[in-house]
Amino acid sequence: MSVLIRNGRVVTAVDDYFGDVFVDGEVVALIGRELVIDADTVIDASGKLVLPGGVDPHTHLELPFGGTTTSDTFETGTRAAAHGGTTCIIDFAVQSRGMSTLEALDIWHAKAAGKTAVDYAFHMIITDLPPRRIPEMRRLADDGVTSYKLFMAYPGVMLSDDGTIFRALRKAGEDGTLVCMHAENGIVIDELVRIALEEGEIGPKQHALTRPTRLEAEGVHRALAIAEVARSPIYIVHLSCYDALQELRLAQARGVMAHAETCPQYLLLDVGAYDAPGFDGAKYVLTPPLREEWNQDELWRALRLKTLDVISTDHCPFCLKEQKELGRSDFSKIPNGGPGIENRMSLIYHHGVSEGRFDLNRFVELTSTGAARIFGLFPKKGTIAVGSDADIVIFDPEREETISVHNPRTHHMNVDYSAYEGFRVKGYTETVLSRGKVVIDRGEYVGRPGDGAFVRRGPYGGIHA
Ligand code: URP
Ligand code: ZN
Ligand code: ZN
Repeated sequence: MSVLIRNGRVVTAVDDYFGDVFVDGEVVALIGRELVIDADTVIDASGKLVLPGGVDPHTHLELPFGGTTTSDTFETGTRAAAHGGTTCIIDFAVQSRGMSTLEALDIWHAKAAGKTAVDYAFHMIITDLPPRRIPEMRRLADDGVTSYKLFMAYPGVMLSDDGTIFRALRKAGEDGTLVCMHAENGIVIDELVRIALEEGEIGPKQHALTRPTRLEAEGVHRALAIAEVARSPIYIVHLSCYDALQELRLAQARGVMAHAETCPQYLLLDVGAYDAPGFDGAKYVLTPPLREEWNQDELWRALRLKTLDVISTDHCPFCLKEQKELGRSDFSKIPNGGPGIENRMSLIYHHGVSEGRFDLNRFVELTSTGAARIFGLFPKKGTIAVGSDADIVIFDPEREETISVHNPRTHHMNVDYSAYEGFRVKGYTETVLSRGKVVIDRGEYVGRPGDGAFVRRGPYGGIHA
């Protein structure tokens, strides 16, 4: 099958031109002006942007967490991703304590294989890394899983001690792979949670009050210091606040290969969300929590100045009814996480590009190319170039939508609320190709579960980012 996308404005992290893109099978075969070539399908992209498909390197589909399981499956979550213009996700497989990471990977492969609308890869969440398991890191990399996530939070469940973190970083540095870090001081947070509950403070807002920015900054500082001594690159996930940014800047200035992502929720929502009536604040119990509004400007600035490399979603959906309810009488039992896989591209286009915070090239870099490079997917993913996978988004910069759980054009996620309810955006995904196949056609899903495939990633590529 071949597709010719005519007359679009093709934008990558470095290019911006009007032209035609010819897709032959799964890859981009030819780019030029007014191409004269037969194609099975011709798409007129006049007035539209032709962008590399979004790469979202932080999603949690079918994740058992907090006594329940995230509400999007690999099928529903990747379909929603496609609607929003994301054509490749990196989801997190989880090693349970006592289990080999290779066994964990098999479990996650079984969940996803044959189900997804778009391509997917895995990081491995490591919860148990005695010295005898360290060689597994190399074996994961040989299987295309070239990054791991470790936690400084959730003691007794996910938390790794500093020795384990050092061992993992050293091994990753030797192997050319990458450790992602959830950086928060979980030990002190647990003390604050205990005190709040003892004082009878049980509501969702306590989630934010017991996870102060200083404890995120402390985690970031410690993670970066350990990476520096281990002589290894590191990637800080879901960085949420100015205090943590300052630690990142200091480490980068010392020459630490420190990368970091933030997420739309930290750019667009703030701590006031926890004051929603009744139990509605539970919608925003995600970790790190939403911060005071002034942090948002600092994060946008850090995106423009390249202190931050990536905007991911940390899509980790739990329904308000039944799932978030688990913590109605104890905020610490509210499953942590929020939805967003579908909304990232439009939100960031609108608030980033249209509102003049950065240009289109930087938009592509932050939503696609940056993650593709750092996580060993580039140039297969993250750009439009001859030989690259034809993961292409035809994006209408004029289309306006109001994001809402009630708007069937903006909500395909399997979750009963939208974190961005009522947000108006100008700029929306129209048509999406996933490895050459049209999966979204002018807003309609026309693909099938199994269109997406597992992507084996190469080594850490952030040195070029
Ligand atoms: O609240 C969140 N972010 N839940 C998902 C787990 C994590 O820490 O990324
Ligand atoms: Zn995390
Ligand atoms: Zn996460």
